[in-house]
Amino acid sequence: MEKKSLFSEKSVKIGPQAGCDNYIMAIESSCDETACAIVKNGREVISNIVASQIKTHEKFGGVIPEIAAREHLDSINVVVQEAFDQSGLKPEDITAFAGTVGPGLVGCLLVGLNATKTLALVHDKPFIGVNHLNAHLCANYIDTDLKPPFMALLVSGGHTQIIDVESYSKQTIIGETIDDAVGEAYDKVARLIGLPYPGGPRLDKLAQEGNPKAFELPEGKVDGYNFSFSGLKTAVLRLVKSFDGQQLPVNDICASFQECVSKTLVKKLRKAVLERGYNQVVIAGGVAANSEIRKKVFDLEKEGFRVCAPPMKYCTDNASMVASCAYFNTNTFDDVDVEVFSRVK
Ligand code: KG4
Ligand code: ZN
Repeated sequence: MEKKSLFSEKSVKIGPQAGCDNYIMAIESSCDETACAIVKNGREVISNIVASQIKTHEKFGGVIPEIAAREHLDSINVVVQEAFDQSGLKPEDITAFAGTVGPGLVGCLLVGLNATKTLALVHDKPFIGVNHLNAHLCANYIDTDLKPPFMALLVSGGHTQIIDVESYSKQTIIGETIDDAVGEAYDKVARLIGLPYPGGPRLDKLAQEGNPKAFELPEGKVDGYNFSFSGLKTAVLRLVKSFDGQQLPVNDICASFQECVSKTLVKKLRKAVLERGYNQVVIAGGVAANSEIRKKVFDLEKEGFRVCAPPMKYCTDNASMVASCAYFNTNTFDDVDVEVFSRVK
């Protein structure tokens, strides 16, 4: 497709039909990672820089939006410079600049998006705004030859969705959580049993040392492809209370929780892909880094499905996935006046 540069309005061809190499620089700042990357033709990562704020937010037990936004301000120029340095490319080599528009923390998004718009203006290149959730899905295009159609399970800190990806630009959410997102459930349960932030990956680690059958926990009963995790969270709370201050069998609780979550997610993903008749499934989002969810999804290979999951570094927030999304034009925003948004649009 054709995109216009911001000043001179000269046209640039972007995407698989461009007929020339595209180098897209992207910026991601929706939550607690300041990231910049350059990706060639949507799949080949030339540079990928991520500045994590985990150390900052650890002492508060969660992300403090105001502090996160200020830290993005401190890091943004550094990650952009490092992305250029690592790539050996110059601004004139860049085909377009892409940035995350939302959903995310508004103050954080503003930092990255304004940096992206400024780069596009200063270097007279097209600007492409990207939806963060679509970007997570596109992490599956990096270093692979994956093409739609496929069924996707998107599991992050704020979202749990089953998405029917018919083509690069046609995607339909066919199921989602009616209460907590999976990542949120992980983080809440982790806090409940006394694990520090970020709880998800720590809980995953302990779960691998525990017995998944130690405690029977309830799977949320919801219609269709939807999910519910709040009942499970309450069940873990009750379980923890039942120990009445005695030492908790932490590893077994983690393993039982993880078993319940992964079983529920993969059951619905399998149902969706079977009903739609696709032969490819993918997982995406921060929680796609989870060991048991990955294992159960990859078990679908035994039934003949092609299974894709991004490597860990492209599961959690990064800018390569944003660049890939801009290239494949999945739900992007061209208008340079586009405003950041906090919730799904
Ligand atoms: O996609 P992401 O980086 O940010 C959002 O867009 O939300 O996801 C962050 C979420 C957090 O809830 C974090 O605890 C969870 O992903 N997470 C995990 C694992 N690694 C990250 N949850 C379970 N197991 C993991 N290994
Ligand atoms: Zn994310």
